[in-house]
Amino acid sequence: MSKPTIYSSADQIDFKLEDLSSMPPPNRVLMVEPTYFDVEYVINPHMADQIGMVDTIQAYNEWQHIKDAFENIGLEVITLEGVRGLPDMVFTANQSLPYIDQNGDKFAVMSRMHAEQRREEVAWFEQWYRQDGYEIFHLDENNSSFFEGMGDAIWHPRKKLLWGGYGVRTSKSAYEEISRLLDVPVILLHLVDERFYHLDTCFSVLNESTVMIYPDAFDDSSLQLINSQFDLVIEATQYEAVNLLAVNATCPDGKNVLIQQGCTDINKKLRNHGFQVHELSTYEFLKSGGSVFCMKLLLW
Ligand code: ARG
Repeated sequence: MSKPTIYSSADQIDFKLEDLSSMPPPNRVLMVEPTYFDVEYVINPHMADQIGMVDTIQAYNEWQHIKDAFENIGLEVITLEGVRGLPDMVFTANQSLPYIDQNGDKFAVMSRMHAEQRREEVAWFEQWYRQDGYEIFHLDENNSSFFEGMGDAIWHPRKKLLWGGYGVRTSKSAYEEISRLLDVPVILLHLVDERFYHLDTCFSVLNESTVMIYPDAFDDSSLQLINSQFDLVIEATQYEAVNLLAVNATCPDGKNVLIQQGCTDINKKLRNHGFQVHELSTYEFLKSGGSVFCMKLLLW
């Protein structure tokens, strides 16, 4: 096992992005049917006052349109059935972190969910990975770190480099283990506002040189780290970031951005920079604190 490589301030960066090994772009998407999706408990500020407020039929329609949108941009979508009693299982970004090495061997680090209500979701994903031929890693039970998968750990597009959000759900210490297990460098980003409880709510990589963020969700040294690695940093307004989870968008191919409907300000900026914007309604899922990014898992 290798030594962990962790960066927590811009002056520690000792590599150039172009020198890092490349990783193929993901070509598949994993989604879970929203049959049992609902807001049944409150584990983030967006869920407050939303218990029992989900319109199940509307949620199903929104989910179907998101699935179609991924297929329309050329990704293969794999769907798993939902499980009764696990209303947040539809947020498939959270239960794991998939990885592919230079030989094409595939691995997944399984999450250790901070939210007790979500712990049982993980085994269902592990089962899927195993039948698909992935090798499974678990975090060491003795370290008691929490880790919420791709909600907090986000691959730099096409690079063997991980951006690791911590401070609300995922523990900082989880990244030492992940860096060692996968032999990848990790840049740590400190989340300082509970409304942006996962990195994917305030940090969305669009392509190798562009990222979209909500700056107030980070401390200064994290902002410096972000600015040190991306040529273009597109900022969302507070209104769109908080109320529409604008930054919980996804750009799987470096040009098509799938985003919650009505993010007028950020969409204008995205279009000005040449991105193709696809607006989707995720209102039912916003009640649970999630939007397009966290309703899918990109993998190989
Ligand atoms: N209700 C879910 C939770 O709080 C929403 C998760 C959204 N996922 C995400 N990656 N942002 O855990």
